[in-house]
Amino acid sequence: MEDIFVSNGLLDGLYDAASFDKKLKIIHRALKQHLDAIDRISVILYDARMEILTTFIHSGRDNPLSFYECKIEKSPSLLQLKKLKKPRLVNDLDLFSDGENEHTRKIADQGYHSSYSVPMFDGENFLGVVFFNSYQSHGFDNKILLELNLYAQLINSLILNKLQATRMMVGAFKSALNLVSYKDPETGNHLERMARYSRLIAQELARDGEPGLNDEIIEHLFLFAPLHDIGKIGIPDNILLKPGKLDDAEWKVMKTHSAIGRDIIDTIADQIGLEAFEHIHLLRNISESHHETIDGQGYPNQLMNDEIAIETQIVAVADIFDALTSKRPYKKAWTNEDALEELQKLAGAKLNGDCVNILLQKKQAVEEIQKRFQDESN
Ligand code: C2E
Ligand code: SIN
Ligand code: SIN
Ligand code: FE
Ligand code: FE
Repeated sequence: MEDIFVSNGLLDGLYDAASFDKKLKIIHRALKQHLDAIDRISVILYDARMEILTTFIHSGRDNPLSFYECKIEKSPSLLQLKKLKKPRLVNDLDLFSDGENEHTRKIADQGYHSSYSVPMFDGENFLGVVFFNSYQSHGFDNKILLELNLYAQLINSLILNKLQATRMMVGAFKSALNLVSYKDPETGNHLERMARYSRLIAQELARDGEPGLNDEIIEHLFLFAPLHDIGKIGIPDNILLKPGKLDDAEWKVMKTHSAIGRDIIDTIADQIGLEAFEHIHLLRNISESHHETIDGQGYPNQLMNDEIAIETQIVAVADIFDALTSKRPYKKAWTNEDALEELQKLAGAKLNGDCVNILLQKKQAVEEIQKRFQDESN
């Protein structure tokens, strides 16, 4: 007997390495074949530590909502989804066109008339929400809803499979960083803060039209940013934790941490197939190039201007801002005002000036991050 290999047909490519956005579009195309009323699918993710929801991926003709985040407490209906763990059907979005939330208004204004929202979970952990929208009002009958539940489950599994795997890999690296190199309880919060400054800057740049960014890339930038100094695992403690200024020889060793970082990522990629993780090139760029400066005077490769990827320029600003405002074995914590003044001096020649301006303008968001992730002693 001969084996017959059947193609998955409609869902072909779903499990290939590709962006989440692409996977969602494959699912949407399959769904459209027999449920023509589904005009848009989108997924938003939950940041449990900040209690905010951020846009992640979408499929559909238009894109009413990007680079958007919302406190979950400001959205009673999404809070209910999380609490009740049950989907929610809205048959007439017109009712919401003067709603209090920017996101609901934008969806309604775009001409969508019904909406079905399904919460995603990893066990007890709330991961986010899948939205199905239709231009028709009363677009979803019971039979359709049953099927949408299955598709939502498929999307939930994709996120679990892929995004949670990346999160676990990052978590393992973060623990290694804490264990091996830093005997310093502040490190964890430094990493949490700088990841969120990076996300904040990226969202604003994207809103202003920065072409290299979308919500999915921003989410991965947020995930990978804490690993920028992974190479410090290779720096001896007596240098890393030195209370004073480094001498020339020590500085030479310290500066190798970015090249070591890239080597670590590449080695692991070879051994366990890190390439299977989406957007891993972002991590490679960030770890290797976060100390490059736009005037070409940075290290290790003296890259200039656009040779430094935008995600790396963002992380550089976030890292320096947090390094300045934190206590280090070799320095005191600066005030936000002093740190921003220093960043303004570096803007243009060393750092991306737009990124610096965003930190200046988003004072409140910056303070909110600092409040959530305070250091014990500063
Ligand atoms: P880090 O502590 O995470 O600092 C990251 C970056 O923040 C630094 O990159 C630098 O660009 C900026 N930064 C931190 N503190 C200051 C400051 O007081 N003034 C200014 N203008 N910028 C500051 P950089 O210089 O490439 O240093 C990389 C890493 O080398 C630092 O990471 C830190 O771990 C270590 N390092 C740098 N200088 C010293 C030092 O004097 N003593 C010790 N023990 N370590 C140092
Ligand atoms: C979305 O559809 O992307 C989220 C907005 C909402 O309907 O609450
Ligand atoms: C620290 O010195 O507390 C952490 C350094 C870093 O991760 O940039
Ligand atoms: Fe570094
Ligand atoms: Fe750092």
